Amino acid sequence: MGINQDGKEGSLILLKQGAEARVFESTFVGRRSIIKERFSKKYRHPTLDTKLTLKRLNAEARCMTKARRLGVSTPVLYALDPVLHSLTFEYVEGPAIKEIFLGFGFNGVNQELMNDIATQIGDAIGKIHDGGLIHGDLTTSNMLFQNGTNKLVLIDFGLSFTSTLPEDKAVDLYVLERALLSMHSSCGNVMDQILAAYRKSSKQWSSTLNKLAQVRQRGRKRTMVG
Ligand SMILES: Nc1ncnc2c1ncn2[C@@H]1O[C@H](COP(=O)(O)OP(=O)(O)O)[C@@H](O)[C@H]1O
Ligand SMILES: [Mg+2]
Repeated sequence: MGINQDGKEGSLILLKQGAEARVFESTFVGRRSIIKERFSKKYRHPTLDTKLTLKRLNAEARCMTKARRLGVSTPVLYALDPVLHSLTFEYVEGPAIKEIFLGFGFNGVNQELMNDIATQIGDAIGKIHDGGLIHGDLTTSNMLFQNGTNKLVLIDFGLSFTSTLPEDKAVDLYVLERALLSMHSSCGNVMDQILAAYRKSSKQWSSTLNKLAQVRQRGRKRTMVG
């Protein structure tokens, strides 16, 4: 990727080095942007690896676009580069929900804001689930709170897939529940508020929440054995 001498248009700032991808901040036609580059897995056969990486890249772009069509805010996709295995998105200005939840009780993060965010989370998940889309990695790091609009923006569709199975939807919610319990236990009953909003947003809430109860049971048993 082009890194210019002046360090402006085209320069890259590494934001995150993950197991599957590197995330950079850059500019795209003068706009602040995010570049997510998937890299190869050294242990995989090179041809197979390139094929799988491209498949994932396309799936991530498609799922993000699908979420947007279903009425959930996501970053705008600017470009997909099949050679560099990268996606370029709109840079969303604003903190991650993780930062806001960790700051609960301090500088303006009050119950009212928490309620608003929890409602937006439940509403967004209900919308994508009813459209047959599973996010696959619902954590508070993968949700941003956009400055100015105060809208919840879902990001990171790297593990997303399409499914209409209540089981898949329940596991999606369960991942979020576990993340909230481990990271944000001081935030009170956020998950209950999220589920209340989910019930209003998803027509199929009943079968999903029944499954969620089963998934929780399985999780509990696993914890007792392990
Ligand atoms: N569109 C965006 N606008 C602003 N920040 C972003 C955007 N996309 C990603 N980020 C930041 O980069 C981090 C990693 O991106 P993400 O897509 O979640 O990759 P990973 O799969 O490695 O978690 C996010 O947690 C967020 O802090
Ligand atoms: Mg992420």
